[in-house]
Amino acid sequence: MTAIPQERRLVTAIPGPKSVELQERRLAAVAAGVGSTLPVFTARAGGGIIEDVDGNRLIDFGSGIAVTSVGASAEAVVRRATAQLADFTHTCFMVTPYEGYVEVCEQLAELTPGDHAKKSALFNSGAEAVENAVKIARAYTKRTAVVVFDHGYHGRTNLTMALTAKNMPYKQGFGPFAPEVYRVPVAYGYRWPTGAENAGAEASAQAIDQITKQIGAENVAAIIIEPVLGEGGFIEPAKGFLPAIARFAQDNGIVFVADEIQSGFCRTGQWFACEDEGIVPDLITTAKGIAGGLPLSAVTGRAEIMDAAHSGGLGGTYGGNPVACAGALGAIETMRELDLNKKAKRIEEVMKARLEGMRAKLPNGGLIGDVRGRGAMIAIELVKPGTKDPHPEAATRLAKACHAEGVLVLTCGTYGNVLRFLPPLVIGEDLLNEGLDVLEQAFTGI
Ligand SMILES: Cc1ncc(COP(=O)(O)O)c(C=O)c1O
Repeated sequence: MTAIPQERRLVTAIPGPKSVELQERRLAAVAAGVGSTLPVFTARAGGGIIEDVDGNRLIDFGSGIAVTSVGASAEAVVRRATAQLADFTHTCFMVTPYEGYVEVCEQLAELTPGDHAKKSALFNSGAEAVENAVKIARAYTKRTAVVVFDHGYHGRTNLTMALTAKNMPYKQGFGPFAPEVYRVPVAYGYRWPTGAENAGAEASAQAIDQITKQIGAENVAAIIIEPVLGEGGFIEPAKGFLPAIARFAQDNGIVFVADEIQSGFCRTGQWFACEDEGIVPDLITTAKGIAGGLPLSAVTGRAEIMDAAHSGGLGGTYGGNPVACAGALGAIETMRELDLNKKAKRIEEVMKARLEGMRAKLPNGGLIGDVRGRGAMIAIELVKPGTKDPHPEAATRLAKACHAEGVLVLTCGTYGNVLRFLPPLVIGEDLLNEGLDVLEQAFTGI
């Protein structure tokens, strides 16, 4: 495959005529519940560019929701996955195993925080990994309750819908949900009533109080948290919050699960975001960035916890598919070779300076209530100027304006008022700045 020129190019309106035609077919054939941010049909993608079927080239600030950190056609991913495809596509690891699966588990043991003995189990999707983390924690602790947090997102299966905070669109009309799931406050600094500086201590005290008084710590199997909350709005729990919760879990025999499905694998400038506060989770769930776009997920953790489930209790037909494992080994190779943690930190530097600049100098910069995030997981929270009232319409209008100019950005947040930026970590700095120029221009038009 020839490399895609790393330049934005608009040759038709967005979406172009071929995309419009495909969208009509899609509307007739694909269930309405499966949405798309931008109905532009992809022809190829790589580096920081998505090329559509009309020949337009869009700057990619989404990475397929934090997946293609190494790009959507990374050389090592394509090379290893292609070779694996030619050898065999599937045997089912539960029938006859293969080396790639074992090698991915070895890599996970090496890369995840902590130098204790670790084991992993591989699955297909993030939600599946979270479900299995709960199964494992319950098997280990012989307890049932699971604690999750306000603004948390963990997936769309029945158990993970129960774990996810936001109702619309993820849960509306899909209940009843799994029992024994309890939600407690998180230290959302920007919106904490007594100020960000108090959020870590106060939110952790409230969360612990609720767990102790309303559930009973001795009944809790697992506490599950995203070290940077993704779909909820790129919320970095205020300093001190995660260590306090992790300590509480440890003191009470509760399995502490870091859901790093969105924040893991170099996205935040560390292999895993929980490293920033020195957290060593008992279990860690990964997916998305792990395999350069191929479907793979994992639960990794302390060997004695991982081994608590009986033989045959974990697995699935496709879990740890050999092609996906080959892709993961290619993605990890790329992350190491290109030092993508360093690249993520540089992206943060460039993006935060530009976004803070927009906030300071734009006549309507007051729309930007908060600039936050780490590495290449950066967001702006949009508010009605002079207030902290969420402004989801501004987020939607800005996203639309960027899309029309060939820059793919995503929105998120409990209030739908967060514009999030998740560029591939391999994006060129020129392209990054050009995308930010387009965003800056979009502010003047909304
Ligand atoms: C933190 C987190 N957990 C779990 C999931 C679910 O992953 P999947 O969509 O692969 O099931 C996501 C997906 O966005 C996520 O961001």
